Amino acid sequence: MAQSLVYTTSATPGTTTPPSLLVSHAIPSVSSVSASTAADPSSSSSGSEEGAGQVLVRFLAAPVNRVDLMVLAGRYPIQPKHTAPLPDGTSHPIPGFDGCGVITTSTTPLFTPGDLVIPRDLGLGTWRTHAVLAASALVKLPGGVDPIDAALIRSGALIARLLLENVTPLREGDCVIASAGTSGVSQFLVQLARKRGVRVVLVVRDRDEAVLAGVKAELLALGADAVLSESELEAELEVRASKTPNGTAVTGLLPKEPIVLALDSVFGHVGQLLASALAPGGKFVLVGLLAGPSASVTVTTEHLFTRQLSFLPFRGSEHLKRMGSVRAEQFIYETARMFIDGTLKRPTVKVVDWGKAGEGEVEEALKTAVQMAGGKEVGHVKTVWKLN
Ligand SMILES: NC(=O)c1ccc[n+]([C@@H]2O[C@H](COP(=O)([O-])OP(=O)(O)OC[C@H]3O[C@@H](n4cnc5c(N)ncnc54)[C@H](OP(=O)(O)O)[C@@H]3O)[C@@H](O)[C@H]2O)c1
Repeated sequence: MAQSLVYTTSATPGTTTPPSLLVSHAIPSVSSVSASTAADPSSSSSGSEEGAGQVLVRFLAAPVNRVDLMVLAGRYPIQPKHTAPLPDGTSHPIPGFDGCGVITTSTTPLFTPGDLVIPRDLGLGTWRTHAVLAASALVKLPGGVDPIDAALIRSGALIARLLLENVTPLREGDCVIASAGTSGVSQFLVQLARKRGVRVVLVVRDRDEAVLAGVKAELLALGADAVLSESELEAELEVRASKTPNGTAVTGLLPKEPIVLALDSVFGHVGQLLASALAPGGKFVLVGLLAGPSASVTVTTEHLFTRQLSFLPFRGSEHLKRMGSVRAEQFIYETARMFIDGTLKRPTVKVVDWGKAGEGEVEEALKTAVQMAGGKEVGHVKTVWKLN
């Protein structure tokens, strides 16, 4: 049997999390899906897409990412493209925008059974064990990449690479500051930056002193140049503003070199601090909205006119589209190879094995992940579904 984790769009009024349900259904086959449902992919129990050729994918691993939580909360512009049926006959969306699978059947020369693949675009619905998909919906990875590493490429390692290579030219010795310093994106960023000689200052949420010391040690060992708590950054910037109006660092927590790029995954108060840390001419990039959709940053004439800062949006999917499919595929392939050759190491994740989970455990794990993401508790660890 195949399994899909669906959520019902009719959330209980007043709740932000729609109920999820792990449903079992027949494993789809390429020929039956092509024949019966290719004209209406959304009606497929497994999800299928029209295309030059189709493949049956057995998904191996899929993370629960921030983007997925935004989709569940109805706060993301792109919706899941596939549905699965509930026993009552209704169909419901399959979330999961990132993941890794293996081809088991192929009707196209582009893929052969055994090929490892990840989604090309957002919305594929990876929280399921099997899917019949158009070949065009997938990108092939090099053999030998660990499926859990591979499941963290599209929304993690790839994003870190794009932020380092595609936003603004960075030279050896340049200094970057990033919020949500413990996130997967930040951990990949420091590993890649160290290779290029780019210095990264990570800002993490405040936590118990001993725990903070441990987090700092881990991130410094991974390649960060400096790690500050949000309070430490705020205090540092206050000292700097009072003692050195020309913006030179004085207390030693921040590097003396100018910070040319701020990568902000939080926004709100933390985003404001990152903007203050930028040197004249620096770029502020909005990567994520961890402080919530209503958080804001005040942009003043001092930012724009006096210090000539730029404020830029960032969406990885748009950068990939602009690259064109050939270059994007190559970029993804190269990123996957970085796990194989040891350049990249994945952050700690919480693996939930669907094959071993008892009844209701997967749904409960999703509920916990949603609650953790929305809460104030620090030390969050990403959940990854182990699917087969
Ligand atoms: N724009 C794009 O194309 C794109 C693509 C992928 C990801 N992103 C964004 O990149 C960011 C990181 O993603 P990820 O998947 O790497 O994250 P992740 O591994 O899930 O980690 C996020 C971490 O941020 C910290 N955090 C949570 N809420 C926070 C808050 N309110 N203020 C400060 N820190 C907070 C938590 O660490 P502690 O508990 O240790 O504090 C959490 O573990 C997210 O904002 C995500 O939306 C953007």
